[in-house]
Amino acid sequence: MSMTNTDTFIALARTDFPPGFVWGTSTSAYQIEGARREDGRVDSIWDRFCEQPGRIRDGSSGSVACDHYHRWPEDLDLARALGTNGYRFSIAWPRIIGDGHQPNQRGLDFYDRLVDGMLERGLQPWPTLYHWDLPQLLQDRGGWMARGTVHAFVDYVDAVTRRLGDRVAQWITHNEPWCTAMHGHMDGMHAPGIRDVASALQASHHVLLSHGLAVPVIRANVPGARVGIALSLHPIHPASGSADDAAAAHRHDGLRNRWFLDPLFGKGYPQDVLEALRDAAPRIEPGDVEAIAVPTDFTGLNYYFPEAIAAAPGTGPLHARVVHREGVERTAFGWEVAPSGMLGLLRRIHDEYGPRELYVTENGSCYDDEVTDGQVHDAARTSFLVRHLAALREAIAAGVPVAGYFAWSLLDNFEWAEGYTRRFGLTYVDSATQQRILKDSGKWYRDFLHGAAPVANFPQTP
Ligand code: FCB
Repeated sequence: MSMTNTDTFIALARTDFPPGFVWGTSTSAYQIEGARREDGRVDSIWDRFCEQPGRIRDGSSGSVACDHYHRWPEDLDLARALGTNGYRFSIAWPRIIGDGHQPNQRGLDFYDRLVDGMLERGLQPWPTLYHWDLPQLLQDRGGWMARGTVHAFVDYVDAVTRRLGDRVAQWITHNEPWCTAMHGHMDGMHAPGIRDVASALQASHHVLLSHGLAVPVIRANVPGARVGIALSLHPIHPASGSADDAAAAHRHDGLRNRWFLDPLFGKGYPQDVLEALRDAAPRIEPGDVEAIAVPTDFTGLNYYFPEAIAAAPGTGPLHARVVHREGVERTAFGWEVAPSGMLGLLRRIHDEYGPRELYVTENGSCYDDEVTDGQVHDAARTSFLVRHLAALREAIAAGVPVAGYFAWSLLDNFEWAEGYTRRFGLTYVDSATQQRILKDSGKWYRDFLHGAAPVANFPQTP
């Protein structure tokens, strides 16, 4: 990379971050485990979705994925070798639900072993209870559109936290309710592939309610529990200086961000969004809004990219559309690269909502990696990582109580509707042989975490 006068170069050291900071990587069950039919696992909505032609870009599924169900000791060894002290993973509800009446002990046994494996390696377990793999049998009863799923979730959480709560203090209820609701039920890009605004909004309410009702159950089962939720949030900018675009950006921010943050922090659903949604607004029963506002111990931020928004009368309930900005740095997925966006979001959450603690529960990038002589030279991903860690350091210096960072992802994995075409890992995974190769970005993270304080020669971008 050539040096120009305007470039500034970043030096980062682990000691720049507070003592006790949690350094981790993040994964999710359906994306890595495979073992679709083992030990009493039932189908999830993703198993079915992947069987529908045209849903997954490469026609693949998570039936084998990274075969983590069998290779987990090797994968946890990788996490330990990186020098991480925390590991975020998800528990597959389809492994636990059993016949719908009794939890499946063999599924619980797997997570029992996995958690012990983490503790043996000095990795603090950070389970997510729902990372999109709803059991199909619950979908058949209406899925997240049905209120019954809220109670089924609470029963499932009860079973898991009773079993693992003696060793696991941190619990994340949901991963990215926006995606569960909107990708699952509005644009249909994700399972269960429904395209209906009212269904999406009803699903979002039930997901939030299930969070609110699960938190006290976790606290009752786990002494000293620390509970939170992981949200996908985006900095939203108007595409132009026009008043119309500014208003559209505000509405879009309403559904992307405030629709989740406001009720979780006791402000109720945003009035402007409810008005824009009209008949599509969800049915909310007395007590729901109070239940959702249950105090939590931390908020997880999954940060990937900002969005520019223009007014678009007639498109969707918000009359807003995402504008593709020219001349902006992007990953291979087309997502804008903007470390300052993460800084801005962390400050905003802290200023406007004041969570006790924040964790970056996901952040990462996808590039078209190739293996050359047994190595993966992914300088762009290292640059992405370094620049986001520099932004994180700035947020902490500005007084935002960020207490941990989890890189997405430990492994290349099944990237939902994109199948295996999008590599996000610090470790390269060859799907055919299941061989793992630590990428240069993973080596950088490892050296940084081992205190080698590598100076990263990457120009800082806005
Ligand atoms: C997030 C998801 C995660 C992964 C990354 C790239 O939205 O939580 O499972 O797919 O995006």
